[in-house]
Amino acid sequence: MIDIQNVSKSYAKGKVKAVDGLTLTVRPGEIFGFLGPNGAGKTTTIKLIVGLLRPDAGTIAVAGWDNQRDPLKAKAVTTYVPDTPEIYERLTGLEYLNFIGDVYGVPRADRLERIRKWLDVFELTGAVASPIQSYSHGMRQKIVLIAALLPGPRVMVLDEPMVGLDARAAHHMKELMRDHCDRGGTLFFSTHIMEVAERLCDRIGIIHKGRLIACGTMAELRAGAAARTIDAVGTSLESIFLELTER
Ligand SMILES: Nc1ncnc2c1ncn2[C@@H]1O[C@H](COP(=O)(O)OP(=O)(O)O)[C@@H](O)[C@H]1O
Ligand SMILES: [Mg+2]
Repeated sequence: MIDIQNVSKSYAKGKVKAVDGLTLTVRPGEIFGFLGPNGAGKTTTIKLIVGLLRPDAGTIAVAGWDNQRDPLKAKAVTTYVPDTPEIYERLTGLEYLNFIGDVYGVPRADRLERIRKWLDVFELTGAVASPIQSYSHGMRQKIVLIAALLPGPRVMVLDEPMVGLDARAAHHMKELMRDHCDRGGTLFFSTHIMEVAERLCDRIGIIHKGRLIACGTMAELRAGAAARTIDAVGTSLESIFLELTER
């Protein structure tokens, strides 16, 4: 569903190699967690997937659409929550959601019902008539998450979606992510929260200095750890992560 082949991306005229020869496939119905230390290349990879950055080399296909050759087709099936969302602050929450609904062509008939449901889940109903500039960080995060859910996308790409959410919202978020994938959707997200990744993800990738240094199910990551060290049965993702990224 997301097919990344040999992708590289540098900044500063090639001085900073942010993503280095990345090959990675995420299948339909899969929650894929993308981990890595600060500066490892997670956000760059995500921006490449959603077409905000152009790769120096390699290709990315989303739902079979090459995101450079058919960007609109790829974008139409994808929603994206950036790490620091920039939203139209003068719009009210409801105006913003309707704007996103128009962009993605969400039928008017379903739209209000869906919006009501998620506003209720994220306890945002009381704020939706107010301009977004009056929202707290957590409320902004919730409104962009609702906007990402609204089109019923096949692919969701989320850059550290749990940041700023309270425990209740984070709980609902995890349920929604699971539900999205149980219905055949695909979800790619970055996080620093090892426990969330370990419990929620079908597969996990670890990126370090732009290179994918491990990728697989928890069982596969543990088997990899067992091959390197002595005892890896029941090893936590955190210890695998720490072991892999200190080298
Ligand atoms: N716009 C930019 N210009 C120059 N360097 C950048 C830019 N964005 C990111 N980088 C660098 O690219 C590397 C990867 O960054 P990023 O993808 O944001 O990592 P992560 O999301 O894993 O923290 C880092 O070394 C970072 O400093
Ligand atoms: Mg980042």
